[in-house]
This record gives sequence, C-alpha cells and structure tokens, in this order.
Amino acid sequence: MIELKNASKKYRQGGREVYALRDVSLVIKKGELLSIMGPSGSGKSTLLNLMGGLDQPTSGEVFIDDIPLHGITDNELTLIRRRRVGYVFQFFNLLPLLTAAENVGLPLLLEGTPFSRVRPQAESLLRQVGLGERTEHRPEQLSGGEMQRVAIARALITNPAVFLADEPTGNLDSHTSEDILLLLKSLNEQGQTIVMVTHDPKAAAYGTRIITLKDGALLQDLSIGEDAS
Ligand SMILES: Nc1ncnc2c1ncn2[C@@H]1O[C@H](COP(=O)(O)OP(=O)(O)O)[C@@H](O)[C@H]1O
Ligand SMILES: [Mg+2]
Repeated sequence: MIELKNASKKYRQGGREVYALRDVSLVIKKGELLSIMGPSGSGKSTLLNLMGGLDQPTSGEVFIDDIPLHGITDNELTLIRRRRVGYVFQFFNLLPLLTAAENVGLPLLLEGTPFSRVRPQAESLLRQVGLGERTEHRPEQLSGGEMQRVAIARALITNPAVFLADEPTGNLDSHTSEDILLLLKSLNEQGQTIVMVTHDPKAAAYGTRIITLKDGALLQDLSIGEDAS
C-alpha cells in the first residue's frame, strides 16, 4: 500500500544539518488505521508528507501501491497525489466562497468535471459524514466539526488508496474531536486505509497500529487487537 525504505529528510539550518526524519522504514498495509504519535518537532508531519508525495525524502524511497515516487515526472507525481491520496489538515482548508457540496467536489471540479456530474457523489459523501442537510451551506455557516467533516468528504471523493490526516482534531473541542475520531474509525471499518498524526494518546488509541517518533526516528511500532502480528 505505502512503503518507506530508509527514508530520511534533512534540512540545513544556519550551516547545520538537521534531520526531520532519520532512516525510517515502514510498510502500511491495506485496511490499517495507523496513528503516528510523538512530541512536537519529532517529524510526524514530515513523515505524513513523504507518505502522500507532498514532500520528497533527501535519501531513501517511498512507494504508493508499489509505484515509486522517485524518478517520475512532476505531472505523474501530481496525478498520484490527486488520485490515490486524500489529505485532511488541522485547519480545514475549505474555500470560503464555495458551498459544502462544491468544496467536496473540488478535486474533480479542478480536473474539469462539470459540477452537475460531481454533485450526486458530493451529496452522497456529505450524507455519509452526517451532513446531508448542509450541502448548500458555506464554511462560515458551519461549526468546526462540520467543516472538518466537509474536509473529510472532500478527501474521499477520489476514492483514494490512503487517507492521510495531520492532527485532524487539533483545532476541535474534545467532544467534537471524539465525533470526528468515531467517523474516521467507521470509515476504516468500511475498509478505508487511514494514517493519522496526533499527539493525543486518546486519539491515537483509535488506531489499529500506533507508531511513535522521537527526534525523527521510529521509536516504537505497536499493532493492536486482531491486527497484531
Ligand atoms: N521546511 C523546513 N525547514 C527547516 N526545518 C524544518 C522544515 N520542516 C520541518 N523542519 C524541522 O524538522 C523537524 C520535524 O518537523 P515536523 O515534521 O513538522 O514535526 P512534527 O509534525 O512532529 O511537529 C522539526 O525540528 C522542524 O523544525
Ligand atoms: Mg506537525
């Protein structure tokens, strides 16, 4: 599904080399809900961005569905990102002038598909995330939890191989966070592979597998319940 082989990412900070990620090898299997934990600055976002092809390692390799993300053209990489990866962020990144249904359909609208063809699928996804009554609302008319649901529906519209979420509950109160985590859990139980970054152990516990980073290195890799091997 997703594989990292000895992936490292280093930055030059004022003449000094800093490793954001250090020699990480990892295989994410289809159907997993992987939680990535670790303190601030431990490399969680860097790891997620490498997995989704949003960023490239300075050494090592990344594969999505056995397709290498190195040695391919920018256009090919863009297509893989658009078609095989769904991304959700802490700040929902919705377009303020578009309705919920238009925001959900955006990945397909950007490819030139007319909204009339996108609308049924966008509305169906909004129903799936519990927003069937909010399809015509604009982001400012929605709560934080509802905006994150729209962002989740948008990430699903291309039927991605993997769904990546960077601190998806980081900007939500605890009650709303729980609702969003339950939604991610139910998507996972329907077969969606999910990778979620969090620094909250309670959120991480929703995973079928929890990995912990420290100073850019893989510190712990724990499978939970029936997925344990
Ligand atoms: N664009 C960048 N330039 C320089 N250093 C960076 C950059 N992005 C991340 N880093 C450094 O890499 C480390 C890991 O960052 P990050 O992956 O964002 O951590 P986390 O998401 O766990 O908080 C941090 O020390 C951070 O300062
Ligand atoms: Mg981060």
